[in-house]
Amino acid sequence: MTLLQVSELSVGFGRRRAVAVDAVSFELTAGQRLGIIGESGSGKTVTALALMGLLPETARVTGSIRLNGRELVGLPDRAHARLRGDLVSMVFQEPMTALDPTMKVGRQVAEVLLLHASERSGSARVRVIEMLGRVGLADAERVADSFPHQLSGGQRQRCLLAMALINSPDLVICDEPTTALDVTVQARVLRLLDEVLSVEGAACLFISHDLAVVSQVCTDVLVMLNGRIVEAGPVATLFSAPEHPYTRGLVATARIDQVQPGERLPTVEDFYPREGVR
Ligand SMILES: Nc1ncnc2c1ncn2[C@@H]1O[C@H](COP(=O)(O)OP(=O)(O)OP(=O)(O)O)[C@@H](O)[C@H]1O
Ligand SMILES: [Mg+2]
Repeated sequence: MTLLQVSELSVGFGRRRAVAVDAVSFELTAGQRLGIIGESGSGKTVTALALMGLLPETARVTGSIRLNGRELVGLPDRAHARLRGDLVSMVFQEPMTALDPTMKVGRQVAEVLLLHASERSGSARVRVIEMLGRVGLADAERVADSFPHQLSGGQRQRCLLAMALINSPDLVICDEPTTALDVTVQARVLRLLDEVLSVEGAACLFISHDLAVVSQVCTDVLVMLNGRIVEAGPVATLFSAPEHPYTRGLVATARIDQVQPGERLPTVEDFYPREGVR
C-alpha cells in the first residue's frame, strides 16, 4: 500500500533561478525505510521540510506530495499542522535547537501528545515516562524532569525520538539524527531507531550524508545531487553496483579501506563545476 507519493516536487527560494529541489519523485509504502543521501546543500532537508509543511513563506513549492492519499502541496498551514506529529513527524538534525531550552523535556514530549490525542495531562505524564523508557532512557523520571542542557547529546536525541514517536505516526522523517553524536552513541541510537520503527510499523525517511549509516536503518536509498535524484534503488544494489559516478564516490568513501592509495574520489565539483555548487 502506498503511504507517500511525491511527484515532480520542486522547491525554489527567492528570485534566483536555481532551485533547491528539482522535480523529485519517489514513493514509500507503509512501513518502508527509505534513505536520502547527498552532499551538503543537495536539497535533503528542504525535501523533508516540504513534507512537514515547515518551509518558510518565501519558498515556491510545485508538484505533488500525497500522504495517505491526501495532497499536501498547497494545504493550508493549520490543516498541515494537524497532520504533524500525528501522521508524520520529524527528528531534527540538531537536538539542542529542536528542543526548547526553557522547558523540561517531559513537558515538551507531553505537549506533542496533548496537541493531538484526547489525553488529559495526568495520564499524559504516565505515557511520556513510558515512551522515554521505550527509547532506551533508563532513568525516565529524572530525564522527564530535566532541562535539555542537563542531558547528554545522546539523551537529548532520544527525547526527540520519543517526541516523534509518541503519537504513533505512519511516517517518521529523520534528518541526520545522529550526526551530533559520537560513534558508539550513534550506533546505539540507530539500533534503537531500527527497533522502535519495527515495533511501531512506521515508515521512515532517513536523511544522511553517510551511506554506511543509511544502510543500518534503510532497505532503499535515493541519491541526491544539486536538488535532483541521480540514482535510486535497494541499499544492497547501490553498494554492490553503483551506477552514477557520484554514487560510486560515496560507496568508495563508505568503504574507505578499499580505496587505492593515491586514488582521488569524485566530489560534487566534478559534476557541477562552479555555478552548480551551492
Ligand atoms: N530558507 C531558505 N532560504 C533560501 N535558501 C534556502 C533555504 N533553505 C535552504 N535553502 C537552500 O536550499 C539548498 C538545499 O538546502 P538543504 O538544507 O536542503 O541541503 P541539505 O541537503 O539538507 O544539506 P546538509 O547536508 O548540509 O544538511 C541550499 O542551497 C540552501 O542554501
Ligand atoms: Mg540538511
